[in-house]
Amino acid sequence: MTNFFTDYLKTTDDRLLTKWTQYFDTYTRELTRFRARPVSFLEIGVFKGGSIPMWKAFFAPGSRLTFIDIDPACAALAEPGTTVAIGNQADPAFLAELAAQHGPFDVILDDGSHVCAHQIASFENLWPHLAEGGLYMVEDCHTSYWPGFGGGYRNEASFIEYSKRLIDRMHSWYTDQDDLFPFDPIARELHSVRTYDSIVVAEKRTKTEPPTTVYAQNGQVRLSRRALEIRGRKSAFAGKDGT
Ligand SMILES: C[S@@+](CC[C@H](N)C(=O)[O-])C[C@H]1O[C@@H](n2cnc3c(N)ncnc32)[C@H](O)[C@@H]1O
Repeated sequence: MTNFFTDYLKTTDDRLLTKWTQYFDTYTRELTRFRARPVSFLEIGVFKGGSIPMWKAFFAPGSRLTFIDIDPACAALAEPGTTVAIGNQADPAFLAELAAQHGPFDVILDDGSHVCAHQIASFENLWPHLAEGGLYMVEDCHTSYWPGFGGGYRNEASFIEYSKRLIDRMHSWYTDQDDLFPFDPIARELHSVRTYDSIVVAEKRTKTEPPTTVYAQNGQVRLSRRALEIRGRKSAFAGKDGT
């Protein structure tokens, strides 16, 4: 199936672009809705700069496109209207400065070192700087199965295992094991975690209140949180999020 990205490949110049082919379908599914207006986009990992013109062509004119890489040679690869900042994706101080200058971001795409500890550090430091409605995408997650990248099957330190814990945290409203599994404030912001072949997508959409069940019958609509309350899920209502 053709899409913007498969068509784009035929227009590339001498700047090498490297992506796994299955990503183009995922990008199309996840990112097409971000083309309608200018957005703020961050990609971790520049390499030879091939993705810079691709994202420039993909997103609407006026978008703020920021790229980072640890290799100082990448600074020369910025296109007009784009920024390449040099630094380590696992360095909280660098990421804080980056976010202060260029954030918040509508889309963050981690195509950097693919080392699991770096992917987790970037996520933890940049998630707060993801805009409402934004997507955080981590690609090449198959390195979670490669010991050389800090992965390995069911290795707790891998990004895939971290993303599974994100799924738990997203559901921390619901369990009746308050002591074992307290409410995690990320549940307020984490709308969904979607896993594709080698790409994990986390979407931010803030809930201001705990989830409700709707009961509708004969046109009468009633909302209830009884399912949470009868389980004594106190921390979801008055937990460490300070509410
Ligand atoms: C897979 S390449 C990026 C490819 C590029 N996004 C593309 O689509 O053509 C990975 C890049 O991540 C950079 N990198 C490696 N470790 C890093 C780190 N700790 N922080 C930031 N960038 C890093 C490497 O220098 C390399 O240029």
